[in-house]
Amino acid sequence: MMLALALATGAVALLALLLLRGRGGVWAKLHVPWEPGLPLVGNYGRVLLQTAAIQNIYRDIYRKHPDKPFVGIYKFRKPALLVRDPDLAKNILTRDFSSFHDNALDVDSKLDPLLALNPFFLRGEQWKRTRAQLVPAFSSGRLRQLLQPIHDVTRELISYVRAESPAALPDGLDVKELAAKFTTEVVSSVAFGVRANSFRDPDAEIRRMGRRIMQADAWNNFLFTISFFLPTLRGLLRVSFMPKEVDRFFRKLVGEAVRHREETGVERNDFLQLLLGLKQKAQEQGDEYGNEEITAHAITFFSDGFETSSVALSFLLHDLAGSAAAQRRLREELGRLPADDHEAVLRMPFLDACLMESLRLHPPAGFLEKRCTSAYALALPGGGTAQLPAGVDVVLPVLAWHSDPALFPDPHAFRPERFLEEGGAGPRGAFVPFGDGPRQCIGMRFAQMQVKMGAAALVRAFELRRTPRSPADPVQQDPKNFLAAALGGLWLHFEPVDAAAA
Ligand code: HEM
Repeated sequence: MMLALALATGAVALLALLLLRGRGGVWAKLHVPWEPGLPLVGNYGRVLLQTAAIQNIYRDIYRKHPDKPFVGIYKFRKPALLVRDPDLAKNILTRDFSSFHDNALDVDSKLDPLLALNPFFLRGEQWKRTRAQLVPAFSSGRLRQLLQPIHDVTRELISYVRAESPAALPDGLDVKELAAKFTTEVVSSVAFGVRANSFRDPDAEIRRMGRRIMQADAWNNFLFTISFFLPTLRGLLRVSFMPKEVDRFFRKLVGEAVRHREETGVERNDFLQLLLGLKQKAQEQGDEYGNEEITAHAITFFSDGFETSSVALSFLLHDLAGSAAAQRRLREELGRLPADDHEAVLRMPFLDACLMESLRLHPPAGFLEKRCTSAYALALPGGGTAQLPAGVDVVLPVLAWHSDPALFPDPHAFRPERFLEEGGAGPRGAFVPFGDGPRQCIGMRFAQMQVKMGAAALVRAFELRRTPRSPADPVQQDPKNFLAAALGGLWLHFEPVDAAAA
């Protein structure tokens, strides 16, 4: 019995090794340096065990191969090229976009029909058309109209924090949850024209749905891994990334909002109105543009709009709490602005530098993955070229660049001044929290707007202080989260400025 078991195990291991070797041959054949992995799981063993987040695995591989422009890796059994050279990454995202126009993460349109319509997952012509339709939602004029609604939410944020006394909360406030309440409130109001009520009701439904999509636990992380990296297993298990409850909730929410506007003729200056305009235009031209698209784009705005921005805001607050000098400088500069000029906040160079530095330290999206869509010539380190075949993925290790001392001296220090210095943002291609090129984050300016307005309001009103529960720097990444997330969370005290000065 034991012998049979040992033989069977040996046979499986040998088969797996042969399978891997077969794949390894791709890099060997191309003369591309590669990082050996394990049979079947490739370099993703720790992803499966959930002992390291994907962006940290990429950072570790990046560090193991100094001086190489790229390294061959294995996402399970699929070969992928991890690009180390920021200049090559810049070309992939911009100049040579036509060879890398699709994102590499796959989504199953039958299992996740709404997610599949998110521009991030769309491909080719469908991506181009949808992106062009959605771009006007983020024009300067439209964003300016959001200043007042966002300012209204910052007032609620301040009242909520004021009501929480530091003495009653020795650990401080859970800043990730605080930031998520704020961005959920902003996004619901500017996307759907509804208030989520997340400050008043801890169980507010929209906030609850947001938590369901983005909750960092072992199950969600497993879903993320198989949804995007193991399409065959996902197909066999028939699991969707978007929970059914969330799908139903948003279909109902958007369906009712659309019906209300169509029946009453009420018009609001929000994202939903833009989508209704698209529907009307399409109908006039005899094209299809149904509620499915409207619902999908409204959910895109919600899911992409609240979580990444709340990650950015919570880390910015954490970083500011570690720098009394930066807070003081911000408070002085804010004090010189007219109280009702909300736009002036967005133009403050030092606030901008603080946000950029925090995004450098904790990029919410710590990696990008593109698919090679037509064969691409790579200049090999030893001379000559190799043709990267179409269909192979390229990995851009954003976190690895942002924390490389050769690109950003003293990389773990929060030093906003570097973004005010000539060349402080590193070479182009190395600082890419929002990506670059034609697929750069469509919501970048809106994200910066809500994060800056939320942070500015809090710094004006409170002295931010670390608590015994705040993580030490450099913050350790939660391995169960594919976005930047602090292990154990982010916790802060907020002392009213007048009391702190007394
Ligand atoms: C701090 C907050 C945010 C960060 C760090 C962030 C980051 C990113 C990154 C890295 C990409 C991929 C870019 C590339 O492939 O080159 C992306 C794409 C995207 N983002 Fe954001 N994002 C943020 C906020 C938002 C917001 C507020 C929205 C919308 C309301 C949004 C909507 C999107 C969409 C739709 C895409 C796909 C674009 C395309 O493929 O054409 N993001 N984002």
